[in-house]
Amino acid sequence: MKKKAMLIIALIAILGMGVVMLSGCGKKNETKTNYMVLVNKQSKLPENWESTIELVDVYTGLDETYKVEKKTAEAYKKLKEDLYNDHIIIELDSTYRTVQQQQEIWDEFEQEEGLEYTQKYVAVPGTSEHHTGLAVDVKIVKDGEIIDDNDDMTAETEIFSKIHAKLAKYGFILRYPVGKEDITGYGAEVWHFRYIDNPIVAKEIMDKGITLEEYLQNK
Ligand code: DAL
Ligand code: ZN
Repeated sequence: MKKKAMLIIALIAILGMGVVMLSGCGKKNETKTNYMVLVNKQSKLPENWESTIELVDVYTGLDETYKVEKKTAEAYKKLKEDLYNDHIIIELDSTYRTVQQQQEIWDEFEQEEGLEYTQKYVAVPGTSEHHTGLAVDVKIVKDGEIIDDNDDMTAETEIFSKIHAKLAKYGFILRYPVGKEDITGYGAEVWHFRYIDNPIVAKEIMDKGITLEEYLQNK
């Protein structure tokens, strides 16, 4: 065989190996991610969690960019589109957070709202579900106005009940429901959705009106 031909064959082989390795990498992350992970006041973020997720950028209709776990981002976009077709506009408000970012939120809340309020609505850094990349906080746009204040969103019961009704279809659950504060350890948050990558289980959780804690304890 001529030298040139051998060189071309060798190059094709190296390129092929590269493609196989790259596609393998993507799959590895997905299969390693524990989408049912429980992160709460008693159960902090697992060690090395970051190496088990792939974060992607999501650009919003308000020209903002948020980091979200890859499959969570895909599911979120479908949920948003479905709601948009029903004339409900949701936008991302807070997604993946580093421990440092959570600390900044904690400090800001403590300064502005006091310790009691902060403990009710903000996780201690290292124990926030937002560290997983699987949690999304949304805000809504109603009649051209952005509604992102916690109390104002809670008051939008009709809109949020329509949003909650669609969560399970895309593999999300409402993570901090009303009446479950003693179990989740947090005040109700109509805006905080958690991706679990399983629409059937998500439907069971939402239909029963239970928490992730209760589902995992009784399964
Ligand atoms: N608001 C939720 C509890 C958090 O800070 O992770
Ligand atoms: Zn949240």
